Formats: sequence, structure tokens, C-alpha cells
Amino acid sequence: MTPLETMGAGAKLFEPRIIIGDCLEVLPTLPKESVQVCVTSPPYWGLRDYNHPRQIGTEQSPEIYIKNLVEIFREVRRVLRKDGTFWLNIGDGYARNGGVGNCGPNAIVGNTKKLIQRRNCKVPHCWGLKDRDLMGIPWRVAFALQEDGWILRSRITWIKKSAMPESVKNRPTNATEDIFLFTKSIKYYYDPDGVREPTGANLRNYWILGPDPNAYGHPAAFPRELARRCILLGSREGDTILDPFGGCGTTGIASQELNRKSILIEINPSYVETDLVRAKKANKMAKQKVLIDPLYVETSKVQSKDAKKIFETESS
Ligand SMILES: C[S@@+](CC[C@H](N)C(=O)[O-])C[C@H]1O[C@@H](n2cnc3c(N)ncnc32)[C@H](O)[C@@H]1O
Repeated sequence: MTPLETMGAGAKLFEPRIIIGDCLEVLPTLPKESVQVCVTSPPYWGLRDYNHPRQIGTEQSPEIYIKNLVEIFREVRRVLRKDGTFWLNIGDGYARNGGVGNCGPNAIVGNTKKLIQRRNCKVPHCWGLKDRDLMGIPWRVAFALQEDGWILRSRITWIKKSAMPESVKNRPTNATEDIFLFTKSIKYYYDPDGVREPTGANLRNYWILGPDPNAYGHPAAFPRELARRCILLGSREGDTILDPFGGCGTTGIASQELNRKSILIEINPSYVETDLVRAKKANKMAKQKVLIDPLYVETSKVQSKDAKKIFETESS
């Protein structure tokens, strides 16, 4: 039985608080030590275009990308309670030399006009990378965060039930990603009974998950079960959960289902629209009156007027 089903008829669901904006600018506006758990998955370096000039992931080099992430997650550390946890899902990639075209997420390579990956254009000038080197970005980010003050407590391997097909014949197909558990203090809240193995044993650090059938058109949503586990292990009912790269709101929906408050930050307003649809659906499933409406969406003061305009158009 899901928590939604176990909640009584009078139970009030916590609606996600959704802030449209650049998380680097929005996070400093949140009060310190106000969040119990952060679950997030930033854009992976050079992979996708989320259609915003200030998006993370399109930096010229992976070194700048890591520097930006460290800065963002330093703000996450400030807003996290002393006994809070931070769960970071992050993926890797290969350094490639495509040989032609300008570097950039919308570059045209050869006669191919489709969106191309920055990391396929040119081997980045760092870390001694060579063509076809696996960049090791997740661990490089983890080491950088350790250096910045985070305590790294676990590396969970997410084993994908249904991995993206790859046409490679000279290495195994990638079918895993990393989830790092960081804390800000040695003592932190962790409920080992929140999620256990089917045998009753303590949860192992490999999770076989996904894909989530309800990704609602977002190209990189993580499975709801991933967020659910992090939330159950790291928080109590009523606590606040943060996702600074909110996407189509998986963390918000999982929080709502588990009776937790949530704050989501997302730079691209079109994904926020999807999030509202999902939240409404979750409320309907719980036979509650619809608690979510666009009034709950805030536009960060620093967000460009343009983004607000797009959102208004799309929600009308
Ligand atoms: C990997 S996706 C997250 C998907 C999310 N976990 C879900 O399940 O829907 C990363 C998201 O970060 C957003 N993003 C990129 N740069 C951002 C920034 N500077 N501030 C806030 N959001 C950003 C992108 O638009 C994208 O939706």
C-alpha cells in the first residue's frame, strides 16, 4: 500500500513549492538549515540542451562544470539542516573528437543538423584526456565536493533495468549510474527501516530501478523510486525536501506521496508545467481537492522576464 492510500480522507498533502529560476541565484534566497534532504540530478556535462542560456552542463570544459556544481552544492549545504543528507545522481561520458564543426550544444557536425553533444565535439584539454577516454566525471565531482567540506558516506550504483541501447562492440554497454550520499556532519538522520531489502536486511548499495513510465516528456527524469528511497531513508513525515534541478518534478511528486514538503527549482518553465500536471494527478489519486494551481509557482526575482512569458503562455 502506498503512503497515499494509507493517508486518511482528511489528510492534507503538501504541495511542492516550485521556483522558476537559476538555482545558483535562487538557493541563496532560501533560509539556512531549513531542508532535511536534497535529492537531485544535475544535467550531465555536454550531453543535452535544456534550452536556457544559464543552464548547467554546457560549460566549455568539464572543469568549469565541476566548479559550478561545487558552488551550487555549497549553497545546498547552507540550506541543509545539520543532520541532513544530500543524494546526488550524476552520470559520466566519453571524451570524443568528432573532428568537425564548432563546439556547442547546437553545433552542426558534418551534414548532421541534429542536436549534438558537446562532449562529442572535441576532447577537453584537461586531466590528460584522450579520444574515447571515459571522463570519470562522477568521482571527480565527488572528490571536489569532499574537498569543499562534504562528507562522502556512500556510493550507490543504480542498475538500470532498461539501459539506453548503444551500438558499441568494443566495450560493455553502460547500464549503471552513480548516486552519492553526502552529509554535512558525522551524525545525521538516516532511517535504515525506511527502505530494507526484501529479506529484511539493511538496504544494499546497488538499486535495480526504472524506467519510470511517467517521465512526461522530460528527456532525463529519474525514476520516482529513486527519489522515494532517498526521501524515506533521510527524512520524516513533514520534513522539507529540496531539488535544485527540479525537471518535471519527480522529487516533488515523491515527496508529496510520502507526506513531505518540497522545494523545486527549475530553470526551464516548460518542465514546471509538466510538474503541475503530475502534482494535480497525484492529488486526484488521493481523492483530495486539487491543491496545486499555478499560483503556487513562483518566478525567482532574478529570472528573466522572457521565461515568465513562456510560462504564462504555456499554462494558459
Ligand atoms: C537531469 S534533469 C533533472 C530531472 C529531474 N530529476 C526529473 O526527474 O524530472 C536537470 C534539470 O536541470 C535543469 N537546469 C539546468 N540548469 C539549471 C539551473 N542553473 N538552475 C535550475 N535548473 C537547471 C534543466 O532544465 C533540467 O530540467
